[in-house]
Amino acid sequence: MTRARISLHAICPYFAMFPEEFVRKQVEKYSKEGDVVFDPFCGRGTTILESLLLGRKAAGSDMNPVAFCVSRAKAERPALRAVLERIETLESRYGMSEQTRWERLRTSLPRFFRRAFYPTTLRELLSLRTSLEWKDERVDRFIAALILGSLHGEMDRSNAYFSNQMPRTICLKPDYSLRYWRSNDLFPKKRKVFEMLRQKAESRLKDVPKCGSGSVKLADVRNAANRFTGLHGKVALVVTSPPYLNVTRYEEDQWLRLWFLGGLPQPTYGVVSRDDRHHTAPKYWQFLEEAWQGIAPLLRHSAKVVIRLGGIGITEDEMTSGLRASMRSAFSTARLLKRPERSEIVSRQAQSFLPKSKGCLYETDYTFSV
Ligand SMILES: C[S@@+](CC[C@H](N)C(=O)[O-])C[C@H]1O[C@@H](n2cnc3c(N)ncnc32)[C@H](O)[C@@H]1O
Repeated sequence: MTRARISLHAICPYFAMFPEEFVRKQVEKYSKEGDVVFDPFCGRGTTILESLLLGRKAAGSDMNPVAFCVSRAKAERPALRAVLERIETLESRYGMSEQTRWERLRTSLPRFFRRAFYPTTLRELLSLRTSLEWKDERVDRFIAALILGSLHGEMDRSNAYFSNQMPRTICLKPDYSLRYWRSNDLFPKKRKVFEMLRQKAESRLKDVPKCGSGSVKLADVRNAANRFTGLHGKVALVVTSPPYLNVTRYEEDQWLRLWFLGGLPQPTYGVVSRDDRHHTAPKYWQFLEEAWQGIAPLLRHSAKVVIRLGGIGITEDEMTSGLRASMRSAFSTARLLKRPERSEIVSRQAQSFLPKSKGCLYETDYTFSV
């Protein structure tokens, strides 16, 4: 079945995100309407939204607040009218507030911020960062997700981003960014945040077909069984991609979005996740064993598990045998349903900003029955 692209999927680009069509194929092939589909490393929530659109129940978790905010915004969509009303309230509150407060806050931030955002843009963002109750309020979470997806991106290609020139899936380190902007003589453009948010809300919510809500939690995969007690023995299909071997640190790469959600104004590691980048294969497989053990109680008999994996410094055979062993430690009956399918990663966005980086060159898809 072909269907027009749902623009809500693209609310916030994310590193190593699934293409929607990939998830759609798996969900259509390995589950029926009403089945529960689960993603314990949900990232931007592709599995969750696509499953809901296909009439499945959907749930998932991620330990990164950026992923949690974006995925939950997709799983619990507010009405457009409520979003527009809230933006209006936030804008008029900002208009009536003491501007010197935002200016003081702006100038107290590290230099990176002043070269990343135009002064009025940053003041508006600071007021939204203070006001949005994204953890508790569905409408605020949706607005926060819109902001996360627009916070940084390629200014030379689109005027949809608030920042100076940056990649859109990850944020580079402050010193590197400053050097890059200086050597390319780049300055941020003025962006009217509230006006852009209204347009973005309309475009993201206009074409979403009626579908159910899903359950998304901020949780470590290893605690999934404790956090989703209502799903024990109910999950028919898992479509997921764990962090790849030795490829990226999600917390560090998402640092600017994490700052917007209340984090520190600098890259951190170990504040939201202790170990989202594993450098050696033995530690990686141990982590994945614990991950599969964490979700095992949720799966029903004969459930299917589709896993997309990538890595640096590992052969495909090593990856296949490591993954198979990790799956068998949690599911003694786990067997591969078909040959692993490998695809080259052709367009890497970091390439234009970090031309020397080698990155992850291929991904492989595995389908298990457990
Ligand atoms: C490859 S990405 C998933 C991308 C996702 N398939 C999508 O379409 O956006 C891996 C995700 O795993 C998350 N993660 C890393 N360690 C985790 C853990 N211990 N528990 C839960 N999530 C974790 C990262 O924060 C990241 O969002």
